[in-house]
Amino acid sequence: MDEPTAKGLTQAVTRAIRDGLLEPGERLPPIREVARELMMSPTTVSAAWGTLARAGTLVTAGRRGTVVADVSAPREGRYRRALDRDAAFETDLSTGVPDAALLPSLQQALRQLTSAGTPASYLDDPVLPELGERLAETWPHPAPALTIVDGAMDALELFIRSQLSFGDRVLVENPTFPPLLDLLEAAGLEVDGVEVDTAGIVPAELETALRTPAQAIFVQPRAHNPTGVSLTTERMQQLEPVLAASDAWIVEDDSAASISGSPDLSLGQRFPERTVHVRSYSKSHGPDLRLAALSGPVDLVAGIEHVRQLGQGWSSRLLQRVLAYLLGDPGAAEEVAIAREEYARRRHVVASVLAEAGIPTIGSDGLNLWMPVRDEMAAVMRLAARGIAVAPGRPFVVGEPGAPHVRVTTGLVTSRLDEVAALLAEAATTPDGTVPIR
Ligand SMILES: Cc1ncc(COP(=O)(O)O)c(C=O)c1O
Repeated sequence: MDEPTAKGLTQAVTRAIRDGLLEPGERLPPIREVARELMMSPTTVSAAWGTLARAGTLVTAGRRGTVVADVSAPREGRYRRALDRDAAFETDLSTGVPDAALLPSLQQALRQLTSAGTPASYLDDPVLPELGERLAETWPHPAPALTIVDGAMDALELFIRSQLSFGDRVLVENPTFPPLLDLLEAAGLEVDGVEVDTAGIVPAELETALRTPAQAIFVQPRAHNPTGVSLTTERMQQLEPVLAASDAWIVEDDSAASISGSPDLSLGQRFPERTVHVRSYSKSHGPDLRLAALSGPVDLVAGIEHVRQLGQGWSSRLLQRVLAYLLGDPGAAEEVAIAREEYARRRHVVASVLAEAGIPTIGSDGLNLWMPVRDEMAAVMRLAARGIAVAPGRPFVVGEPGAPHVRVTTGLVTSRLDEVAALLAEAATTPDGTVPIR
């Protein structure tokens, strides 16, 4: 064992499993025994066991105690729990996806694809030059380097894989996007949440969280999923001295991109040497384009491109050409602007009806709304009985559950807007106990 810390212990156990010293199904001695044996405190062992359990490396199997997991077996992540529905709903507001009818048409973009744009070598620049130029024009800070990847999730995964190690501590906004939590936990990272208010991450909370060193901070600068909050200029200025006192990576996940109505801000202006800015085109131009751009320091981007060479290689240039066309086409820009306004309108109507019913919400941007409810399960079930699906809030929350919420993708309320809003308000106030079932 190199170091008597929880991190050292998690790494040692992981190595032992990898080397076959510990086998799937093998039972581990009780924490006190391990602590005594290793001359460590039970708290340290327990912290390591916690990290390994979140990563799916260890499982607690009731009276059998803690056993080494069979990592080949699929695990039920937060992502599945947030979106798990067994019925087809007339109004499915649980998914967080964009309204297909509001995505720009691909007809013209596909028509101009007369040549395949095949690279001369597998080692060609992974960024299509015309797309790179378009992105540089609209990027929120002068990016030291930029590359194209297969969506924001791919970007986040590549960052984690290339920069973080098992047992590292990271901070996220609380609540946040469940797949990010799944990704971080699967990588064996220790994840702590920092509260978000109407202007973004709360500086005093971040300062407290940073008293224990963290390797990375993940933030959504605008249209935060699930709350719809966007970082304000004032908040960014307040965060700067707090962040300056740490050397953690700042990872910005701008998943709403141009469907957001908020200013395009980036901490990369102030911390270019440790900001990774990710922009997804899934919500604005279509999830099936599977494209996002990632910027960061030259070495980091080169490292990510290197890691990709051993996997997917690069993101299809055919798709990059479609996106480059859409980003340069005034017609497509107009369609995205219409989508932005329509999403804002839908969200505003729902939030106003809730406010009138005495249900306060924060945020004003993007596809989602974080609705406080009296009882999470009762609200989900009451809405289900009315043919409306929403996502339970628990999978979005880091650590202990706070006040109950559900996430409503208001961007998908395509009809009966006032009626749906009224049903949401009613469900928010449904007491626990007797739940009406269809
Ligand atoms: C905050 C956030 N990050 C990432 C993603 C995934 O983006 P992509 O489709 O580009 O992988 C989403 C999609 O809902 C999201 O809301």
